[in-house]
Amino acid sequence: MKPTKTPTLILSFFASFAIYCQSENTYSIPELLTSNSKEQITITKDWERKRRKEIIELFKTNVYGSFPKQEITVKSNLISEDKNALCGKATRKIITINFISKKDTVRADLLIYLPNQTKIPRPVFLGLNFFGNHTIHPDKNIPLPKGFVKNNAEFFIFDNTATNKSRGVRANRWPVEHILERGYGLATLHYGDLAPDNPEKYQEGIYSLFKNESIDQTGAIAAWTFGLQTAMDYLVTDSDIDSEKITVFGHSRLGKAALWAGALDERFSIVISNDSGCGGAALFRRKKGEDIAEINKLFPHWFAPNFHQFNKKENELPVDQHMFLASIAPRGVYVGSAERDLNADPYGEYLSLYYASPVYELYGYDTPQTENLPTINKPLISGKQGYHIRAGGHDMSRFDWESYLNFADYYFNTY
Ligand code: GCU
Repeated sequence: MKPTKTPTLILSFFASFAIYCQSENTYSIPELLTSNSKEQITITKDWERKRRKEIIELFKTNVYGSFPKQEITVKSNLISEDKNALCGKATRKIITINFISKKDTVRADLLIYLPNQTKIPRPVFLGLNFFGNHTIHPDKNIPLPKGFVKNNAEFFIFDNTATNKSRGVRANRWPVEHILERGYGLATLHYGDLAPDNPEKYQEGIYSLFKNESIDQTGAIAAWTFGLQTAMDYLVTDSDIDSEKITVFGHSRLGKAALWAGALDERFSIVISNDSGCGGAALFRRKKGEDIAEINKLFPHWFAPNFHQFNKKENELPVDQHMFLASIAPRGVYVGSAERDLNADPYGEYLSLYYASPVYELYGYDTPQTENLPTINKPLISGKQGYHIRAGGHDMSRFDWESYLNFADYYFNTY
């Protein structure tokens, strides 16, 4: 049977499923617009008040866990501002985000560049970085991270401590000047400040503030996501920034966190996933590329412990990633894939976006009309959804950035 966006066959055991057969695989995906109590959702009010909330709860319980935010307080302080950064092109702000509990305080630095040539308030892209704020640009005034920095032999051997030698080593993925020239600001924080990406150490970041029992049902992605939300708490208070035009983005595992932040937090206007793959934009049930058992084996600390019970049991998971992308609706969502990034299952990433469309249709927006994977290097934009598959492998390239900036221009001019 040909997959359709409107499921035609519904089975009812546990939840409702629509059956899709692909030439290469047969699978059924959970019903997007049928509530837990089997009610059909046909209007946006019921989507917002009921089904979206149910979906978020299902993801919290079964996949990402809940971050126990009520047990800590967060205070952010602007610690420096230079209106003449990057040879006068930018205003650079450094904000310390303090996570405070009765036990201790953990700090993370938020780095912001805003374009000086455009009028205030400016739209901003917010994303986490892998190796420290100082690695995104050679700018000597970016403070070095104080906490754990992960090793990466591919680029540089860090000794778990950041040094001046690693300034700008990841600049190839962060075209800061270009983003500023396009009229956007950029805000970033180091994911290792929030939860070190290591199964033995991930509880040494903000999780060290909690009692063990408060965090035993969650994982590192939930902590990275909370970091994005606390950065957002600051961004919306800064009068130089347009709080209605904040895009959250992320590459790979940080794309998973960006999507989860976008799903949870309706203040993000656009949500961008770059090569986020398994546990990000890709449909679990296709079982192409990385699967649940593999990701849980390699990265046992990323997801909620409950998620491990779905190893090799994709079909028993009560959600799939079309529901994840749909929970961003009616805001903008853009998925970027790469042709050679088969581990991330580019077609599965596209299908999630495609199968999320019924929710955008409830709102009356145009949606992607083909289940076929779009042509390489030709971004597809329909209504509030965007997708591209570019030539090349797992990376965040200039083409990806250009496409995201173009989508943001289109989106903010249209909606
Ligand atoms: C690994 C992992 C992916 C992840 C990627 C990354 O390849 O298996 O799930 O997205 O790392 O974060 O770079």
